[in-house]
Amino acid sequence: MTDQSKRQAANDEPFPAATDRANDQRILESWAKNATPWTTAIREQQIASRRLATDQAIIDAITDFAPGSVLDVGCGEGWLVRALTVRGILASGVDAIPALIAQARRAGPEAYYLASYQDITHGQFRFQADTLVCNFSLFGKSSVETLFAALGTLLPNSGQLIVQTLHPLAACGDQPYRDGWRIGSWQGFNRDFIDPPPWYFRTLASWVGLFVGNGFELTEIREPSNPDTNQPLSILFIATVKLRT
Ligand SMILES: C[S@@+](CC[C@H](N)C(=O)[O-])C[C@H]1O[C@@H](n2cnc3c(N)ncnc32)[C@H](O)[C@@H]1O
Repeated sequence: MTDQSKRQAANDEPFPAATDRANDQRILESWAKNATPWTTAIREQQIASRRLATDQAIIDAITDFAPGSVLDVGCGEGWLVRALTVRGILASGVDAIPALIAQARRAGPEAYYLASYQDITHGQFRFQADTLVCNFSLFGKSSVETLFAALGTLLPNSGQLIVQTLHPLAACGDQPYRDGWRIGSWQGFNRDFIDPPPWYFRTLASWVGLFVGNGFELTEIREPSNPDTNQPLSILFIATVKLRT
């Protein structure tokens, strides 16, 4: 354990000692550095939790609603867009990392857009889809909070927002169960990964607050679990835009 992480564990000092905006920026810098190993890890199905449950869980959550069109927000190298396309769903993706968008475009003919959550927030990326999906792509603080405020504007009345993320109870570890920045780690990934991004831990109540406070009605929560241990591997929120007049 580094001195910095010991201080965080002891909770005697906020970590990291940088602004939310700086941490949100570090997340992007980390994904830019790790685009190549990430693409390999996804395409070689190196992540056990994804193989075991979470990939199928997000596909099922989307296909259950038979959407006309889907935008994958924070699409990475595009696996989910391709998986939806082969199931006959019109799907596109958006991500801030040029190398990931380039990988996605190389892998198929679907439409991929280069834009950040900040671009979406500021109205610099406009797109209409029935369903927005964020699959393990919401790890910032302010960038996620302002994105949530903007996502409803991309959706029609009754449009869906589906988010899969780390399960707060499983991801909390032995730290206090409260919102805050956490030190990133590539534990479980291969040695090609460097500079893990910090991530912002949210309690279950905070996640619910993000939806409800931004004009969404939560219609369902799913908890994909490890079939061997029954421990949750993720949490899935399914929400609809509240009717606007
Ligand atoms: C863990 S990866 C998940 C990628 C993909 N959704 C998947 O399931 O494989 C997180 C993704 O979120 C994207 N991301 C993080 N912060 C972002 C931001 N501020 N704007 C756009 N994309 C962002 C990263 O570039 C990365 O592709």
